[in-house]
Amino acid sequence: MDKLPRRMIRSVLALLAGGLSLHLPAVPRTFEMPPETAKLKPSNLAGYTIATQKCGICHSADYISFQPPGMNQTQWTAEMKKMQHVYGAPIDDTEIKLLGIYLAVVYGDASSVTSEDRALTATSSPAAVAAGAHSQESAGAAQTLLGSNGCLGCHALNQKIVGPAYRDVAARYKSDANALGKVESSIRAGGMGNWGQVPMPPFENLSAAQLKTLAEFVLAR
Ligand code: HEC
Ligand code: HEC
Repeated sequence: MDKLPRRMIRSVLALLAGGLSLHLPAVPRTFEMPPETAKLKPSNLAGYTIATQKCGICHSADYISFQPPGMNQTQWTAEMKKMQHVYGAPIDDTEIKLLGIYLAVVYGDASSVTSEDRALTATSSPAAVAAGAHSQESAGAAQTLLGSNGCLGCHALNQKIVGPAYRDVAARYKSDANALGKVESSIRAGGMGNWGQVPMPPFENLSAAQLKTLAEFVLAR
């Protein structure tokens, strides 16, 4: 019980140190936004298509819009290298370059991108832009379900945590014609013994459509 007073002393000290100015509490990083605001800004640059396929795997587009404005191509490219090296985002060097260009043009300092680079990467195909928006929608739905059901506490995309990596599940079912149905029912029923001796809890409250979204997402890894 000595924790509370100590914390109070600390905030009093902080207030004194701050010359009694107002200290607002830190805003938590992970809060839920309505999905409409969490969309990537469409563009005919090739990086947009890549972003719609790769970024929603782990987090929403808010992470991008909450970056400081005016980041240039070098800074965005460095940020993408970090996604790759530190967090394991499945993007290669070419994709990192294209993403850096897209993000700088659409979210940052567009003038930092040479017109050559920009021209190089323009896909200018409305079909590609539409396909990107579509895959973003389905990845977004799966991402919301993964988050709200706590799946990501036990599963990562490409490494085992408590449960198997989704990539390994996809690989195991690769040539199984009934993969979708089997994975839907293993998510609903949970189970044990297929991957190890740790059980997965059942998720019987999920609708058929939600199970399908999740199973399709896992099998597409
Ligand atoms: C494999 C998972 C993964 C993928 C894929 C991924 N990210 Fe991230 N990203 C993270 C994690 C983890 C964080 C840090 C979260 C935190 O600090 O709360 C993060 C944070 C960020 C941030 C906030 C700044 C920072 O450095 O913390 C930005 C911007 C970002 N990601 C952009 C992207 C973009 C653009 C893509 C698509 C190319 C992408 N991410 C793909 C895992 C990923
Ligand atoms: C408490 C930890 C935990 C949570 C939460 C969890 N899982 Fe699992 N999951 C596991 C474990 C452990 C296994 C391996 C079970 C086994 O060996 O049969 C597994 C296996 C799986 C498999 C492989 C099934 C198969 O047929 O081989 C899929 C797919 C899966 N989980 C998806 C999900 C989804 C989607 C969610 C969220 C709705 C989720 N998991 C939540 C621990 C968890």
